[in-house]
Amino acid sequence: MNNTIDAVVKEKLGKESSGHDYLHAKRVVKNAISIASDYKVDLEVIKVAALIHDLIDHKLESKFKLSIAELETLLIENKYSINQIVMIKDIIENISFSKGNVPSSLEGKIVQDADRLDALGAIGIARTFAYGGKNNRLLYGDKNREDSLSHFYDKLFKLDGLMNTKKAKEIAIERIKFMREFEQRMLSEI
Ligand code: NI
Repeated sequence: MNNTIDAVVKEKLGKESSGHDYLHAKRVVKNAISIASDYKVDLEVIKVAALIHDLIDHKLESKFKLSIAELETLLIENKYSINQIVMIKDIIENISFSKGNVPSSLEGKIVQDADRLDALGAIGIARTFAYGGKNNRLLYGDKNREDSLSHFYDKLFKLDGLMNTKKAKEIAIERIKFMREFEQRMLSEI
């Protein structure tokens, strides 16, 4: 892993509090490495794309972001090849759920799965409510379904069907099972 780029991400996203922070990026790297062990891929592209994937995300406040041109400069300075940079840009521009795209490379599909896995399970629950709080959402019960619990039904419980790789799908199914238990428990307490 490139230490300079790691330090940039830590500096930019270290204090991001809606669940897209530096430690999210590190978990996505870890998930991606684990999924990638089943495939013959450029692991360096996977690691750096996973690490920087949220730096251009429209959901983030501008102080946490870099422009695509700034990222490109960073990658060039850190000796990534033109081919790698093209692939990395394709990954980070097409990864997000809201756009509904799929990155063209297998490396990108793996990073997309890795990011989606971090929206699931116990960590996914924690991130959903953190994001909701940061964006003035109710925990549950908003009549327009803009509350955090509705996000489980409207997006998260569907993510297993959107995984690109078999391994990620298996992990997603197991994590969603736990989230359904949490949801039932939450509803019973409500
Ligand atoms: Ni992300």
